[in-house]
Amino acid sequence: MKETIAYLKERFEQALIAAFGEDLAATDPMLVPASNPKFGDYQSNVAMALAKRLGKAPRAIAEEIVQKLDVADLCERPTIAGAGFINLALKTDYLKAQIKAIQSDARLGAALTSDPQRVIVDYPSPNIAKEMHVGHLRPSFIGDSISRVLEFLGHDVIRLNHVGDWGTPFGLLIAYVREAYPEALNSSQGLVLGDLATLYRAAKVRFDEDETFQEAARRSVVQLQAGDAETLRAWQLVCDLSNQTNRKFFEWMGLSASIQERGESFYNPLLADVIAELDRLGLLVEDDGAQCVFLEGFTNKEGNPLPLIVQKSGGGYNYASTDLAAIRYRVTVDRAQRVIYPVGMEQMNHFAQIFQVGKRAGWITDEVEFFYAPLGFILGEDGKKLKSRSGEAVRLVDLLEEAIARARIDLETRLVAEGREETEEFIANVAKIVGISAVKYADLSQNRTSNYVFSFDKMLALQGNTAPYMLYAYVRVQGISRKGEIDFEKLGADAPIVLQEETELALAKYILQLDEVLGSVEAELMPNRLCEYLFELSKKFNQFYDRCPILQAEEPSRTSRLILADLTARTIKLGLSLLGIPVLERM
Ligand code: ARG
Repeated sequence: MKETIAYLKERFEQALIAAFGEDLAATDPMLVPASNPKFGDYQSNVAMALAKRLGKAPRAIAEEIVQKLDVADLCERPTIAGAGFINLALKTDYLKAQIKAIQSDARLGAALTSDPQRVIVDYPSPNIAKEMHVGHLRPSFIGDSISRVLEFLGHDVIRLNHVGDWGTPFGLLIAYVREAYPEALNSSQGLVLGDLATLYRAAKVRFDEDETFQEAARRSVVQLQAGDAETLRAWQLVCDLSNQTNRKFFEWMGLSASIQERGESFYNPLLADVIAELDRLGLLVEDDGAQCVFLEGFTNKEGNPLPLIVQKSGGGYNYASTDLAAIRYRVTVDRAQRVIYPVGMEQMNHFAQIFQVGKRAGWITDEVEFFYAPLGFILGEDGKKLKSRSGEAVRLVDLLEEAIARARIDLETRLVAEGREETEEFIANVAKIVGISAVKYADLSQNRTSNYVFSFDKMLALQGNTAPYMLYAYVRVQGISRKGEIDFEKLGADAPIVLQEETELALAKYILQLDEVLGSVEAELMPNRLCEYLFELSKKFNQFYDRCPILQAEEPSRTSRLILADLTARTIKLGLSLLGIPVLERM
């Protein structure tokens, strides 16, 4: 189903052409949802925007537009307000038909894109020599949600885990494997030992206590980059171990199973060629033995252009070299049309710099959008970056496990209060879903560019814009619609829709906005818009439920209201699934 706003835009374009000629063919009608219901449903201020260009008063322009505007099938007669705002109110019959149409639509009216793109989302991209920590929380959840929304809208989404699997920290692990597990290097078994965390901690202890070990670690990095076979074997063992650990972890966190590992090491064989190409293009300058591209718009303290090192003196490569190779590969081989990097704010300059070089090298053209989605920091209650008691970055697994443990305590308390008995299986499942979803939702419901304070109490609260609240809303609304004992699927075109009460109409209109909300998430990559929408939807449902009896209502209102309840529940379920949150039928 085509979204209402898209229809209205078309009609406006036609009216603008009819009134002022072909010159205005590509004019944006500037339609937005009305700020206040008394102005109707949509408002356009295009008349004001055109005043200068047409040399007429905005009100006169608005009148001419309205005369040519043919929206009678969707809207009441358009009205003009104030300086020249054009207000549109949707017809109840149109809304009824829309509700009826989405009732039998699994996508709830959310249209597939007319312009499917190949999109790469680069996430969660941790450095795998170490364990995932709180810094990976936002890339994981925001990357996952963006991917889900784009995929749902019909884009071809490739999720690439650009793991830091190359370079310095690996020396430590390789040296340790050589020292502690020499037999693993020669057997085909692989490394049979605990998890990566244990391995890393042991390696770190060795590194801190022994200088010869430090030397061995450094040598291992050089050997790795030189392609030494035995070193590569040790490296592979560590990577396999790490990827296995991470994969289990991704699954546990509820990230999409279709994330592909394509780490920094993947680009290693391509790096020399990337540098050679930059050289051919005349972009390379040698500075202090290193190969650099001098950046435009980045200067050092003395006001001189800043160099981006793409090959270190001595021939080694760095983070920027790899990312440049990835840019080129994503354009030329993957044929991506949009590449999205949800990565922490602290890497803002890195992305601005590599994108600039990518553009100057001709890899990034107007045909492809490279989008860095900066992520704000997660702060502790003290307002500083969240740290563990020992002062290190908090391990992500600890954070999520604590959330689950707290969700479990909340649940058990509630069970006692309600005199309910549940199986251990039920309790464990609800606690896990509520705990992880609470952390996820708290993150996703923030504007991704802002910092936020991490608070278990807030995110686990049953009130407010939280996961527990939304999960409850689903259980409750779903429960109401189930009690009606109606087979919604069978209703089809016979579904009676009555939209009389104000709150009933408001809820119906809001349900119909899902499509627009997803469109805005698609354009701006802000999952918090979806959270806000779901929260507001459940509030609109509550207002409706307060005013309108459902089960006790007379037919046809009873069935109609049950349909609204069912649509609300389905919208919440679909919306949460696009945030990576599964619903519970009981909690
Ligand atoms: N591995 C990096 C880190 O943990 C993030 C990588 C982001 N992706 C990229 N293509 N640079 O800081």
